[in-house]
Amino acid sequence: MCGIVAYIGPKEAYPIILKGLKRLEYRGYDSSGVALLNDGLKVYKKKGRVADLEESLIGKDLHAHAGIGHTRWATHGEPSDRNAHPHSSASGRLAMIHNGIIENYTQLKNELIKKGYTFTSDTDTEVLLNFIEDIQTNNNCELEEAIRIALKRVVGAYVIVLLDRDHPDTIIAARKGSPLVIGIGKGEHFLASDASPIIEYTKEVVYVNDYELAIIKKDELVLKNLGNEKITPFVQKLDLELAALEKGGYDHFMLKEIFEQPDTIFDCLRGRLDLGNATITMAGVQNNIEQLRNAQRIIMIACGTSWHAGLVAEYVFEELCRIPVEVEYASEFRYRNPVVNKGDVIFAISQSGETADTIVAIEKAKDQGAFIFGVVNVVGSSIARISQAGAYSHAGPEIGVASTKAFTGQLVVLIMIALKIAFEKKTIDESRYVHLLNELHAVPEKVKEILLLDEHIKKLAKKYADAKDALYLGRGYNFPIALEGSLKLKEISYIPAAGYPAGEMKHGPIALVDESLPVIFVATKGTHHEKIISNIQEIKARKGKVIAVISEGDDVIQNLADDVIKMPEADELISPILNVIPLQLLAYYIGIAKGYDVDKPRNLAKSVTVE
Ligand code: G6P
Repeated sequence: MCGIVAYIGPKEAYPIILKGLKRLEYRGYDSSGVALLNDGLKVYKKKGRVADLEESLIGKDLHAHAGIGHTRWATHGEPSDRNAHPHSSASGRLAMIHNGIIENYTQLKNELIKKGYTFTSDTDTEVLLNFIEDIQTNNNCELEEAIRIALKRVVGAYVIVLLDRDHPDTIIAARKGSPLVIGIGKGEHFLASDASPIIEYTKEVVYVNDYELAIIKKDELVLKNLGNEKITPFVQKLDLELAALEKGGYDHFMLKEIFEQPDTIFDCLRGRLDLGNATITMAGVQNNIEQLRNAQRIIMIACGTSWHAGLVAEYVFEELCRIPVEVEYASEFRYRNPVVNKGDVIFAISQSGETADTIVAIEKAKDQGAFIFGVVNVVGSSIARISQAGAYSHAGPEIGVASTKAFTGQLVVLIMIALKIAFEKKTIDESRYVHLLNELHAVPEKVKEILLLDEHIKKLAKKYADAKDALYLGRGYNFPIALEGSLKLKEISYIPAAGYPAGEMKHGPIALVDESLPVIFVATKGTHHEKIISNIQEIKARKGKVIAVISEGDDVIQNLADDVIKMPEADELISPILNVIPLQLLAYYIGIAKGYDVDKPRNLAKSVTVE
């Protein structure tokens, strides 16, 4: 939520910051801005996309060797030029960018108003900046000291990065709860919310931890804690290629990421699934097998699409491992007074590894004695570091705001973990175990087959693009896929869509059915097949339009439905990984048919680092 970039070194800062902001636009895109240090401090900002800022700056003197930039997802104050970051302090000496929320900003603001401060924006950021400047003035101290004092009063989450007109050779940054990576170049430093703006310049990075302050010059990086003690930076090497961050010939990142799924799923299985020996190798599971095997209860904690992965995992773990599973929205769990016991295992599922609600929820559970296992995509992210064990989903960078390949990666990882625990617990018989390993192994090839349906799904999208609303139904393992399909449609095409268990339809949603309502059934063969056929008949009897995702050769549903999408045969436990793919494509093409920017849907952000 909000992207930040900064640079200090011998190169021109502005082009580096601008390019970095474009890479980080997935984090927020309602306004953006830069502050550049050159013969004084110049601040430029603009409502709209980074491209709007770029256009507004044509012809301006942007020469500088130090600068900060920000792309915003509004929390306090509407998207506008004046609420855009960077903010300037009352004296004009300081400029600051901020990602996060200062929860006690009203209290700090009132204190400052009493001292005569006025504000030009509605943001919590401007309040914190002036609070810092006020401390600096009153204590006659260095900026670094003022920041330390200020942050001891601050409640909330932040990454802040400041420029000081009087110290043009230094950038100061601090973090609590929001991500910050520092890239170390030769005689230069880069700062960003994630590694994507940094990767083309250096692979040496330092992930800043909570309550740390970074004092950065072009050839020096000093890390300190809020007690002013120095900390040795832990330098890591990035395992990421620039090509992975580009569109590679596709019109949108979302489409590219949908089409990458044969490869990302293969990468996720690679080195883990060994068909020859019928084994799954996952160090995070193996090293903690006692803890996992003896779990009294598993709680899946996540948000958004990752929560849907947790819901599929509930069905899988209960069937294979015979361990009771609960699935929790992080934003509900953290504010409840949940019962967490020592034998509980929490699975923290997150693409970004930075979702604020998920972080706080798992920290709470960890404090109460639960064991935290992370299923995360972004290597080195906060959730990966908080977790006591974990398994990466290895889907590579996901830029499209609507999650696609990260979701199928999560499903594959969670199914592998369940299979491994079940094998160790002996809650699965060998033939089923081997059968499911074979089924998993076959997924990448089946995904390739499904992607050949692209043109067919594009036609369906055109046919149904004018729908006023939509209903997605599924049963068992595919109920969560109905939820995920409906979420994709809402996110990308803004069509109100509900997802329901098909059996629950008669308790309410059936009232919505008329001849204009498209009802999308996830109805591949499995335990509930006969039941779902009855549900389809119930919809047809009320003249609803049925689009059904079916197993190849299912003539019964083919004869009932208005349109079908035929899927390759698969075990029903594996089928959610496959069945979601046509629903991703359907949402994508409906969004395109309606002329929307599918990579940057309105009001959304990829990484929600505010609560
Ligand atoms: C945001 C994104 C969703 C994502 C959710 C959870 O809402 O727009 O696509 O599913 O956050 O994010 P996480 O990174 O924790 O999986």
